[in-house]
Amino acid sequence: MYWEWKQNFARPGVYPGSFLVFWKMNRHHRPLQEFSMPFLKLPEKGRVLDVGCGGGFFIASMLKRAPESHFYGVDYSPLSVKKSRSFNHRAVKRGQVEIVEGSVSSLPFEDAFFDLVTASETIYFWPDPAKDVREVARVLKPGGMFAVCCDSADKAAAKKYTDHIRGMTVYSAEELSAFFSGAGFVNVECHSDSATGMLCVTGTLPEKAGAGN
Ligand SMILES: C[S@@+](CC[C@H](N)C(=O)[O-])C[C@H]1O[C@@H](n2cnc3c(N)ncnc32)[C@H](O)[C@@H]1O
Repeated sequence: MYWEWKQNFARPGVYPGSFLVFWKMNRHHRPLQEFSMPFLKLPEKGRVLDVGCGGGFFIASMLKRAPESHFYGVDYSPLSVKKSRSFNHRAVKRGQVEIVEGSVSSLPFEDAFFDLVTASETIYFWPDPAKDVREVARVLKPGGMFAVCCDSADKAAAKKYTDHIRGMTVYSAEELSAFFSGAGFVNVECHSDSATGMLCVTGTLPEKAGAGN
């Protein structure tokens, strides 16, 4: 029963008790998001997307640091969409945060729309990460940044989860970097914390040819 409840981390709502999952996600992923924050190129006045936004905490933290930007969240769980909206309800009401239901494999946004895309504790569940990172690249502007934040990139240590949570795969820093490079990202960097195992991989899309940089 415990492991059935844990499936909610892959897709909240698949088993009763999701409210506790959101509480845990918003609390336990906070250190990872704080660790990752200095590596993010948050636009002063731009558009940011958080993929697999879950309980909506990361959006709220980034909004505090870039109060003139516009934030979007996407998640394939209707319950995550509801929770992210309610967690950010004031900003949603004034039109500064929009949360939509959708899959990373087919993002409901036009090409070259975002300055920054983030993905915290979610790539483990994506159906085809190499392809899905290319889909992220599609919605980023030239020069835009993608950041993947993971509590762990240690397959052996994560086995206690991957053995039980269906469809969960933990990727090494090398595998994550290869997804980025394969999707055309440059300046791919792996920022890791040796004490905790936390990892934030960042990469940027090349500027438009002829843009002068
Ligand atoms: C463990 S939660 C992490 C939530 C949040 N990003 C955080 O760090 O607290 C994973 C989230 O990713 C979402 N997710 C998983 N696979 C997805 C996919 N293929 N497309 C969109 N969202 C996905 C799940 O529904 C869930 O809300």
